[in-house]
Amino acid sequence: MKVFILTGAGISAESGLGTFRDKEGLWARFDPMKLATPEAFERDPEKVLAFYNMRRQNLLAASPNAAHRALARLEAGLKERGGSLFLCTQNIDDLHERAGSQEVTHMHGELLKVRCIACEAVTSWQDDVDVDTPCPSCRRTGVLRPHVVWFGEMPLFMEAIYDALLEADLFVAIGTSGSVYPAAGFVAEARAAGIRTCEINLEPSDNARLFDEGRFGPASVTVPEWVERLLA
Ligand code: OAD
Repeated sequence: MKVFILTGAGISAESGLGTFRDKEGLWARFDPMKLATPEAFERDPEKVLAFYNMRRQNLLAASPNAAHRALARLEAGLKERGGSLFLCTQNIDDLHERAGSQEVTHMHGELLKVRCIACEAVTSWQDDVDVDTPCPSCRRTGVLRPHVVWFGEMPLFMEAIYDALLEADLFVAIGTSGSVYPAAGFVAEARAAGIRTCEINLEPSDNARLFDEGRFGPASVTVPEWVERLLA
């Protein structure tokens, strides 16, 4: 069996990273247009870098939860049975990797990497960044940005993602509100291709009617239960 999973902020919520659109979410407290667009970075790079420095420090203090670990077990279990898992995440955290997932496609980039807008080098990064931090490759300053996708930018790896999606036997969305495209459109694409669809979320998302099946509750409970059932 080939399984395609799309994860969102909800899977990392119980690791303490918070979501975007819930009442206490990041976008309720911060204006994404002032912090997560290329225009915002041009206008006020220090402010944008400080926002991602804060998020990077929060991530370094966080740990994967039972839902991340269950998806790592699922990857290994499907492989043993001759199947495969394509794990596509909108999350920029590395909690899937730290839980043991071997292959993770980060369509919105990765918080623990920086990219140079001059030489385009991508470098693993755990420290704070400011406008005076030199690029480790070309040594220029004022050129480092977080290696994340901002509003108005094209998500990464889209060709490989659509190939994997359309080859899958099952599409599962976990912990995502389904409000940001193109990821929000995956369920409709999967349905149109005759692929079975399942939503695992705290509560039904706005796209819930597009899924064949829904499992609701905290990811740390619902995801391990679902994985054990699928592998049984
Ligand atoms: P959202 O904040 O939009 O949605 C999070 C979803 O997780 C909601 O449906 C919540 O109900 C659900 N949720 C919350 N706690 C949960 C829990 N413990 N277990 C299971 N589900 C839970 O986050 P995303 O859908 O990931 O992009 O947001 C998509 C994109 O919008 C992000 O990648 C980010 C953001 O703007 C960029 O920054 C480009």
